[in-house]
Amino acid sequence: MFDTAKYGAWAVIAGGSEGVGAELARQLAERGINLVLVARKPEPLAEIAEAVADLGVKVRTVQQDLLVPDALDRVREITDPLDVGLFVYNAGSNTYRGEFVESDEAGVQGVIDLNITAPLAFLRHFGNRLKHRGAGGVIVLGSVASFVGHASIAPYVAAKAFLRIFIEGLWVELKPHGVDVLELCLGLTRTPAMERLGYDFDKPGQKSSSPAVVAAEGLAHLAEGPSWIADGQLNGAKEKTSFPRATIVAGVDAEYRAMSAPEPAGNTL
Ligand SMILES: NC(=O)c1ccc[n+]([C@@H]2O[C@H](COP(=O)([O-])OP(=O)(O)OC[C@H]3O[C@@H](n4cnc5c(N)ncnc54)[C@H](OP(=O)(O)O)[C@@H]3O)[C@@H](O)[C@H]2O)c1
Repeated sequence: MFDTAKYGAWAVIAGGSEGVGAELARQLAERGINLVLVARKPEPLAEIAEAVADLGVKVRTVQQDLLVPDALDRVREITDPLDVGLFVYNAGSNTYRGEFVESDEAGVQGVIDLNITAPLAFLRHFGNRLKHRGAGGVIVLGSVASFVGHASIAPYVAAKAFLRIFIEGLWVELKPHGVDVLELCLGLTRTPAMERLGYDFDKPGQKSSSPAVVAAEGLAHLAEGPSWIADGQLNGAKEKTSFPRATIVAGVDAEYRAMSAPEPAGNTL
């Protein structure tokens, strides 16, 4: 059940211009929640801002790369005066591929910063605000890929695994203060970022989710943290966590190679 009084009056979405972030914005606006949307590309940001404003809520946009050191300060210039009840960290799809031992250090660090360094900085700030407010919610996007190691995207899945365990701790920490914390964990989802990478969503036997469905599930299950595996992917996640690890890891690797888009090494987004 989504508690509008608890999670309003404003929601902040880091990565709120495309895919699941844009869908969360739309569905929050339908519930009357005002929005602060953060992303880099101005066009999608302006497009979703116009769409949610048409639904009758107030909207502020912050065109900002989350990876620059003063990103949180720039966002706070807008959010400090607002009554923020919900913080969403959506940005985080993989930005670097290739054999780790041949990798470019800065490319790998970018994956870690987008999925660990930046979310922790934002969660420290907004978690603290919500704790002292005594009510609110936090949603962080996770990946079912992160239940097992993967060659070529090892830093990405490992960073998402870190984030999940971190979120479990934050869930325990903030629960007594009336703050709901949820890792919204996705399988392959038809977002613009994945389209740009060239994924074949319609490959026979391959399941893919729509951003609207996973966003709706995230909002519906926000109070049921610490984790929600979206769109029927729970059994897949359970299989990935079983034993013996050699069989599981090798099997998932073979599946992953069969489903993937062509994988040029290096920066992917
Ligand atoms: N799509 C999937 O199949 C899938 C599967 C499992 C998990 N997930 C997770 O779901 C989340 C959303 O994924 P997605 O596929 O929509 O891709 P995404 O590349 O994470 O993009 C989502 C949003 O974040 C923004 N963003 C990305 N990098 C940013 C940066 N450095 N600074 C500021 N904003 C940034 C994007 O806008 P700009 O590019 O304009 O900045 C966009 O609004 C991610 O955390 C991803 O790991 C996705």
